[in-house]
Amino acid sequence: MAAYFGDNRFKFGLFGINCAGGMTPSRAPERWRADWDEMVAVARLADDIGVEFLLPIAKWHGLGGEADMWGRSFETFTQAGALGALTKHTGLFVTAHVSLITAAFAAKAIATVDHATHGRAGLNIVCGWNPDEFSPHGIALTGERRYDRGLEWYEIYARLLEGGPKFDWKGEFFDLKGLTTDPLPVQRPRPPVMSAAQSGDGQLFAAKAADILFTSLQSLNVARDTVQRFKGVAAQWGKNPDVYVETQFVCKPTRKEALDYAHYYAVEMADPDALDYFARQKARTMSASTKSGDTSADRQLAATLAGAKPRPYPGMFAGMYPIIGTPDDVVEELQRIASVGVAGSTLVFLNYLQELPYFAQEVFPRLEKAGLRGRYDSR
Ligand SMILES: Cc1cc2nc3c(=O)[nH]c(=O)nc-3n(C[C@H](O)[C@H](O)[C@H](O)COP(=O)(O)O)c2cc1C
Repeated sequence: MAAYFGDNRFKFGLFGINCAGGMTPSRAPERWRADWDEMVAVARLADDIGVEFLLPIAKWHGLGGEADMWGRSFETFTQAGALGALTKHTGLFVTAHVSLITAAFAAKAIATVDHATHGRAGLNIVCGWNPDEFSPHGIALTGERRYDRGLEWYEIYARLLEGGPKFDWKGEFFDLKGLTTDPLPVQRPRPPVMSAAQSGDGQLFAAKAADILFTSLQSLNVARDTVQRFKGVAAQWGKNPDVYVETQFVCKPTRKEALDYAHYYAVEMADPDALDYFARQKARTMSASTKSGDTSADRQLAATLAGAKPRPYPGMFAGMYPIIGTPDDVVEELQRIASVGVAGSTLVFLNYLQELPYFAQEVFPRLEKAGLRGRYDSR
């Protein structure tokens, strides 16, 4: 992932293929099942067409409801090792939940993936939001101070990857002896770190630790401000991260087909019990994480979760920006998003293997013509 994914003006990360349901809380029978062979097929297609990275989700608990989205999921470090051997170009993010994985383990595991893939590893650091995901590990997750702990974890991880002599660490959250790691990763000073923290506390953490920030795009009108706000916070720490957004695509030959399909799976077939559970669990950690005070991101999220703003597609997550239409519509929308300084976005479909081939065939060449992406030739 040298230079963090090359020089396409607008980059893509295929998001959520390791989990059943992917990123779509829908009961539609053709939803993503996270079958291993299908996952490999879609990862290989993404690799062939030059998708910059695969971004799995680390999950330890499903959302319940009829579909029990995320109830089935592959672990991200081991998945990246396997998919790294089956792909040639695409970056491979792994996720470390800082309460579940020690910094020393993460440093060694990411070096393993980075060597095995000749420098294609990246790390998503997450501090958790659903207490039910931590109880199988015997850990109680409370919202308070989760990002302070995350930052100390990151500092240990980053120091380990600097190399150098063995060191001890005594901080507020960790008391560790004899820290060292060998080999160091191929990418120097370290593989890219991403964070998708949205809360005020989380954004401060991300500003200090992340090279890539993911944020939700509530509307294009506020996108420019969001990017500037994120970059402004990061600049206080001497960083200039790329900002990505979460996008979900429904792309069909006609606008009517696309709208009908989106209505079918994200309205008629939305999974209300899963969505209620998701909102409840988020609220538990969010209300407890107040150190940085209220931020506009907090307010937006709280309002959305409280249902203050009815959303046209409840079967897509609140932070997910739906792009629905013909290939030309999709490219126009991506041009608008790129024009406000967004560096890239997630590729999410109800069923990745059914929908990515059409998207690759119709949208990618148009993106090239629009100057958002270069021609990709993997041979
Ligand atoms: C692109 C993206 C990737 C994420 N990956 C994970 C993940 O792998 N595991 C997880 O528990 N949470 C994941 N999250 C949730 C975030 O880490 C974060 O908890 C969430 O956006 C809410 O922000 P907050 O923690 O600041 O409240 C992800 C979110 C996004 C948008």
